[in-house]
Amino acid sequence: MKLFTGNSNRILAEHIVKYLQIPLGRANVRRFADQEVFVEILENVRGEDCFVLQSTSYPANDHLMELLIMIDALRRASARRITAVLPYFGYARQDRKPGPRTPISAKLVANMITTAGADRVLTLDLHAAQIQGFFDIPTDNLFAVPVLASDVREYYDIENIMVVSPDVGGVVRARALAKRLEAALAIVDKRRDRPGESEVMNVIGDVDGRDCLLIDDIIDSGGTLCNAAEALLEMGAASVTAYITHGVLSGGAVARITSSKLKELVTTDSIQPTSAIDTAHNIRVVSVASLVGEAIQRTALEKSVSSLFD
Ligand code: R5P
Repeated sequence: MKLFTGNSNRILAEHIVKYLQIPLGRANVRRFADQEVFVEILENVRGEDCFVLQSTSYPANDHLMELLIMIDALRRASARRITAVLPYFGYARQDRKPGPRTPISAKLVANMITTAGADRVLTLDLHAAQIQGFFDIPTDNLFAVPVLASDVREYYDIENIMVVSPDVGGVVRARALAKRLEAALAIVDKRRDRPGESEVMNVIGDVDGRDCLLIDDIIDSGGTLCNAAEALLEMGAASVTAYITHGVLSGGAVARITSSKLKELVTTDSIQPTSAIDTAHNIRVVSVASLVGEAIQRTALEKSVSSLFD
């Protein structure tokens, strides 16, 4: 087994190879003067089981091209099997046509990864589980919930916890966390009138006096989260904390979180945290390195991956 990485999340790759007790595959992933991506695999991979770790996070298009070109380089170097490991699968929110004459970019990206030569895909908390079906190659969608649940147990008193989904679409994810914590569940009924804007309409469930844990797959502008947190506090919640797998945190999102009434935002290193995230007083990052590392190990050994979540 060999693990290579592009430039999106080298720190996570280093933690994963430490978990696997293997060296990081040697590769040069750089730019020509005109910004074209150039890749050189610096060791023999003939007949090897190769994994390429790359989140298609900001700058999404550059990181996607790095991934595709790395896969192409490995395929042409006669790797036996190539698994694209995307801790964060960017473009996932474009998984259906929101209007006439619009693309389904998540499907296009899935096609590109397959055409480049990937034999398998390993990813984490897909925005919608059915995106697995966009790939015609085996695709494992891991869940961060065991990592998040054990963090909740370590840092919070779970007696007074209410798990909250910030929108109706996230109920399955929230229920999975609530089940693990044996906690009650509430739902924020969010209506979004225009892309990029979010509006809280209603809270389903009695959150009065409860310590609320909002759980979601992505935090991007922070609008969904901050609006949900305000609605919960207005309804009498004692505190609001958020657990969100993918910290996209674009634009002024970090400032929005630091100036919000959120007790804490806990996110993972599926996307490499910026220095602004690292220094924010109410943002903490938990690592998914051992979860992803274990899934890679099991894939290589042809062992069950789903049993990781039993
Ligand atoms: C939406 O369905 C997603 O699960 C997230 O709630 C959304 O992408 C978060 O975006 P933002 O932080 O910009 O509100």
